[in-house]
Amino acid sequence: MASMEIKRFPDPVLRRKGEDVKSIGKSEKKVLSDMAETMYLKGGVGLAAIQVGIHKNMVVIDIGDGIMKMVNPVILKREGSEVQEEGCLSVPEKCINIKRSKKVVVDYLNEDGQAVRLSAEGLLARVVQHEIDHLFGKLIVDYLSPLKKICNSLTTRRL
Ligand code: NI
Repeated sequence: MASMEIKRFPDPVLRRKGEDVKSIGKSEKKVLSDMAETMYLKGGVGLAAIQVGIHKNMVVIDIGDGIMKMVNPVILKREGSEVQEEGCLSVPEKCINIKRSKKVVVDYLNEDGQAVRLSAEGLLARVVQHEIDHLFGKLIVDYLSPLKKICNSLTTRRL
């Protein structure tokens, strides 16, 4: 395993859309485990492949319940809404209040290529939405409006 370099805003790489993974082999599994190690090293709770310069639709998440590796995740259903502070490993030392769906249902493939349907709420739902934004080249700074302030925080979780 190896730690990867995380691209930082405003690196244009972060604006490219990811591509769906066609088959999950050794190299995809290696990327997923390197991403997980990188996320843990940086103290994040989520990381998308695009953040390490790989334009594939892969994300890793661990909100404290163990590692989740998601390939080609797609949100099928959303419910409710909630505003919370969010940070991002690619936008260091910044946090922004973002309104997101409270609950989501997401379909993805696990690293063995099996289809998984997950119902997530609270922080997990938020992280899933944040990471899927990355796959579309979207960042937390895109949610800024003149009325919203960027706060500086070292304690906000990085997604
Ligand atoms: Ni992020």
